Amino acid sequence: MKKIGILTSGGDCSGMNAAIRSATRTALGHGVEVIGFRKGYLGVLKGDYLEMTTKEVAGILHRGGTFLQSARSEEFRTEPGREKAVRHLRELGVDGLIIIGGDGSLNGALALHRMGVPVIGIPASIDNDIPFTDMALGVDTALNNIIYAVDCIKDTASSHDRAFVIEVMGRNSGYLASMAAIATGAEYAIVPEVECDMKDLCNQLRQRYEEGRSNAIIILAEGAGRAQDVADNIKDAIGFETRVTVLGHYQRGGAPSVFDRLLGSRFGFTAVELLLAGQTGKMVGLCCSTIIPTLLETVVVSVKSPQDELREMSLILEI
Ligand code: F6P
Repeated sequence: MKKIGILTSGGDCSGMNAAIRSATRTALGHGVEVIGFRKGYLGVLKGDYLEMTTKEVAGILHRGGTFLQSARSEEFRTEPGREKAVRHLRELGVDGLIIIGGDGSLNGALALHRMGVPVIGIPASIDNDIPFTDMALGVDTALNNIIYAVDCIKDTASSHDRAFVIEVMGRNSGYLASMAAIATGAEYAIVPEVECDMKDLCNQLRQRYEEGRSNAIIILAEGAGRAQDVADNIKDAIGFETRVTVLGHYQRGGAPSVFDRLLGSRFGFTAVELLLAGQTGKMVGLCCSTIIPTLLETVVVSVKSPQDELREMSLILEI
């Protein structure tokens, strides 16, 4: 293997830079050239890339986002788009590609693998909805961002006897909402995977209000409903003055946590080692503290199993 390509695709997250840096330095250490495609698959289609040296990856480890930038490419979703990408990769002499991203990006990686391009995927999505990895890149930093914000909101909520509905990301996944609820001692997590019993929620909050508690925090995953609707329901039912805070893209940025720096470094290193060992069509994942590769074709048809123990715990700890 003489040259590998790296790209980040889909929604960005903290820790992507650590993975890029580690993969680049590992490959260079083995005497393999590295190029970084700008804006994900779009960079492959446009031939927009940069030669990666240790200088390019200096000073990026502690920065959020992805310095290669990321995008979602409509053209790459089409057959002709993918054929063009493969042609460009061959013309550039790319012998292996590392794709860092979420489920859509890993589907793209599998398509390229099936077209004969050696690929290794790195799971990166704050939603933590990618199977065969305990944690995806970016999740830990996003959770730290969320708990910082919730703690701040709790202070002001307590000063005014208020309830807050705090919306976090997660279109189809309640992971961030559930884990943040446990970590902040929130009263309720509303997640897309479980139907919310609004009556039960209001009853519990009313009881809390009558006990003279000074605040209530409800964490809502974005895919589980509209924050303002939940707030209106609560306000009408129980008397707690209720406010809404939507955390939005704040959750995705910021300096990566130690966990994400280490995870990105381990993923990047292993991805290159696998390519050099002639492996392809796999995703690296964190399984019980060990980095384990899994076939992409298995990853993309699987669903991440719910962490029953944590879900049960969150129900007991609420209220
Ligand atoms: O997939 C990660 C994610 O952060 C989701 O939780 C969220 O719904 C989505 O990306 C937002 O995407 P965009 O950056 O396109 O607004």
